[in-house]
Amino acid sequence: MDKLQDVIELLKEYNQEHIIRWMNTLDEEKKREIIEQIKQIDFHQMTELYDNTKKEVEIKENKIEAIKYIDKEKLTVIERKELEGLGEQVIRKGEYAVVTMAGGQGTRLEHTGPKGTFKLDVYGKGKYLFEILAENLKEANKNYGVTIPWYIMTSKENNEATYDFLEKNNYFGYEKEDVILFEQGELPLINTEGKLLINKNGLIKEASDGNGGVFSSLRTSGALSDMKERGIKWIFIGGVDNVLLKMADTTLLGLAIKENVQIASKSIVKANPTERVGVFCKMNGHPKVIEYSELPEKMAEEVDNNGELKYGEAHIMCNLFTIDAIEKISKEPLIYHSAFKKNSYLDENGKEVIPSEKNSYKFEAFIFDAFEFFDDIAILRGKREDDFAPVKNKEGVDSPKTAKELYEKFWERNKK
Ligand code: UTP
Repeated sequence: MDKLQDVIELLKEYNQEHIIRWMNTLDEEKKREIIEQIKQIDFHQMTELYDNTKKEVEIKENKIEAIKYIDKEKLTVIERKELEGLGEQVIRKGEYAVVTMAGGQGTRLEHTGPKGTFKLDVYGKGKYLFEILAENLKEANKNYGVTIPWYIMTSKENNEATYDFLEKNNYFGYEKEDVILFEQGELPLINTEGKLLINKNGLIKEASDGNGGVFSSLRTSGALSDMKERGIKWIFIGGVDNVLLKMADTTLLGLAIKENVQIASKSIVKANPTERVGVFCKMNGHPKVIEYSELPEKMAEEVDNNGELKYGEAHIMCNLFTIDAIEKISKEPLIYHSAFKKNSYLDENGKEVIPSEKNSYKFEAFIFDAFEFFDDIAILRGKREDDFAPVKNKEGVDSPKTAKELYEKFWERNKK
């Protein structure tokens, strides 16, 4: 009973009285469950995160500069071969692993189930996003005579469904012991008044804590130790929803090795100053990605001596880290950004509300915020038509329709 009283006091202190009323409607077992859950919540942090949603992001005091990159297209044949050779050696030695971040909610796509289980309507029969990724890795395995260990980050919400789906589809022909699922952490969602929401199981509604959660969850889940045991030295981390993502690009890996850096990333040229992508820069001397929403208009339009956008290298979630870099980042706290999203919840009468408008904040750490822990990064500029076909929105830009077109055109050009 003491526990209950403590929890009630805590909820009162943080203006969450509606949860006390909700708890009164629950049976003893559910009540115990929600009490345990509430005890894990850092209310001080949640209050801070909520307050931050009302603040403008200020980048003025920071020194921002353009960042250097290497354009893959402009490499000579000799340069390219050298980089590919360096990268290939690492993969052939079995020192390369891939992580797919598949813990997102995929709210914009409105697909029920994990995003990787979405079937893209390509070549009549269609292919699942997980299937497309598996094919890309199997191709690399064939080329380099190895099986690249494939780590898939799920969320508490979608772990079981992801596992069941992969089992049912026989891991799309991938060696089962080389596909390792691990779960990421969660944070509660809050509505515009800073109130916690109730999920359909009658508990506090939480959601995965952003793709930046990948570093700490790699460590706490044991996946990082597993990589060490396997002798992994380089780790590629990418998203689940870019159907042209190249997960074993030997040029990118070779560039990182040649430049003797711990982190590397592939970029593409921003289509226009208003495109909604994050761009690379150096902030106070460290690599950084500025989100489109945080880049002042004037800077977004600035051009360099060649007439190219000064901040025009878009981040496409195609990142490479040494294992030491992951170890280091996994112990550092990353800041949380807020994303305003549509999230269903139970009202005070236990009735499910499915909002038609965005109603709540999800707090997310971003993978690229980890770049600033390093002095340098190797950036390889790829090509949009070869490297980037995201499935984000149900319709319009970056939708299944645009991704299908880009995917089919790519394979038309690269037919064997
Ligand atoms: P997005 O930020 O585009 O989010 O994820 P999303 O969840 O797929 O879609 P929306 O915003 O709800 O519509 C980019 C990549 O990061 C992963 C996603 O699965 C995707 O591969 N991600 C995102 C995670 O693994 N965990 C998260 O908490 C968030």
